[in-house]
Amino acid sequence: MSAPCSTGEEVYSIAIYLLEEGNYIKKRDFILVGIDIDSLAIEKAKEGLYSERSLHKVPQNLREKYFIKEGEFYRVRPFLRESVSFEVVNVLDKYRMKRLGMFDVIFSRNMLIYFEERERLEAIANFYSIMKPGGYLFLGHAERIPSHFKLFKPVKLGKSFLYVKEED
Ligand SMILES: C[S@@+](CC[C@H](N)C(=O)[O-])C[C@H]1O[C@@H](n2cnc3c(N)ncnc32)[C@H](O)[C@@H]1O
Repeated sequence: MSAPCSTGEEVYSIAIYLLEEGNYIKKRDFILVGIDIDSLAIEKAKEGLYSERSLHKVPQNLREKYFIKEGEFYRVRPFLRESVSFEVVNVLDKYRMKRLGMFDVIFSRNMLIYFEERERLEAIANFYSIMKPGGYLFLGHAERIPSHFKLFKPVKLGKSFLYVKEED
């Protein structure tokens, strides 16, 4: 899950990565959900139409495989669009979050940093409640889980931390 996913770039990038790097991974082998509180951002994510600038790091072979050129823009091909889903969800709404299912991995970049301490802890608790034991939480490089929140084990990865949900 990508929370928040904004206009969807991270979700499509992860899907492309899985399809390219996972030798035997097919699109039905993973469920990839992007959520954001901003309904306009989610509409854009669903539309999957990106500018040249958004794709500037995407090599030509992957552009051709996963996008259709539409004038100045690139539209995500239907098979890639169908491999992911997007929903308008507030990460602070614990009942709505729980209805999304249970996840192995959550990416949450550049949102917690804007929250007040209380909201940050609420969001982290909500992530925790929808993660499978042993699952991974990835944050932005400037974001940390407070050390008194013992249920996640921090693992240093380059300059960032990833957090592992301890087994029950
Ligand atoms: C700075 S953007 C980060 C987007 C993306 N993860 C990235 O790194 O490019 C922050 C996003 O958080 C979303 N957001 C803020 N509060 C939220 C909340 N309570 N629940 C879900 N999304 C939220 C905003 O709508 C915005 O799309």
